[in-house]
Amino acid sequence: MLEIRDLCTCYGKVQALWDVSLQVNEGEIVALVGSNGAGKTTLLNTISGLLRPVSGQITFLGKMIRGLPPHAIVELGISQVPEGGRVFPEMTVRENLEMGAYPYRVWRDKEATLKQVYQLFPLLKEREKQLARTLSGGERQMLAIGRCLMSRPRLCMFDEPSYGLAPLVVAEIFRIIRHLRDQGITVLLVEQNVRRALEIADRAYVLENGRICLEGACTELLENDHVRRAYLGL
Ligand SMILES: Nc1ncnc2c1ncn2[C@@H]1O[C@H](COP(=O)(O)OP(=O)(O)OP(=O)(O)O)[C@@H](O)[C@H]1O
Ligand SMILES: [Mg+2]
Repeated sequence: MLEIRDLCTCYGKVQALWDVSLQVNEGEIVALVGSNGAGKTTLLNTISGLLRPVSGQITFLGKMIRGLPPHAIVELGISQVPEGGRVFPEMTVRENLEMGAYPYRVWRDKEATLKQVYQLFPLLKEREKQLARTLSGGERQMLAIGRCLMSRPRLCMFDEPSYGLAPLVVAEIFRIIRHLRDQGITVLLVEQNVRRALEIADRAYVLENGRICLEGACTELLENDHVRRAYLGL
């Protein structure tokens, strides 16, 4: 579904991604793990068109998407849940959700999609008139996921959805990610919580200093010595 080949991204003179190649097949949950500053967000932002790579290829459903503007990429079916559950603080919950429905292909059906999102997150329905800045961290993350779903993505990219949240909320978020996959949405999941990510995903890539250093089935990576020592504290 998504194929990335030899991708390099720079911030000015500083190179953050080095020849990154990665593949996501339809129906999979693929985890991208790595420590702070490894380049995980940079990779997601490059896929979604927020950053322009200096070289390499990105193909989505057979179409080259490198260089397309972010709105065109959302239109094709890739949506991102940004780091820290970033939402529009001065808009209500409902307005935030509607912002997700701007692609042409989904705008007409936005009421039906909204109903589905409220079914998945009844709490958002209860708070639909509340300003997003007054939500708790967990609620904000749910809102960011709901807004992403409003664009009816085929590929959903999550940037550390569990970061800073209480264990119960984290469990709920991982349950939702699994549910979305069961509904046919493909998932690229960035996580620092390596154990949880490897438990939920099918395959994973390990990013270190802007380079993919390991990849494989999660069952294999959970047994890998480097992963166990560097990321699982074993
Ligand atoms: N806007 C920017 N300008 C310059 N350098 C940046 C910028 N954003 C990120 N970087 C650098 O690029 C590298 C990768 O950063 P990135 O945010 O992608 O890491 P990350 O893996 O998402 O880390 P974290 O787990 O802390 O979110 C880091 O060295 C970072 O300092
Ligand atoms: Mg990041």
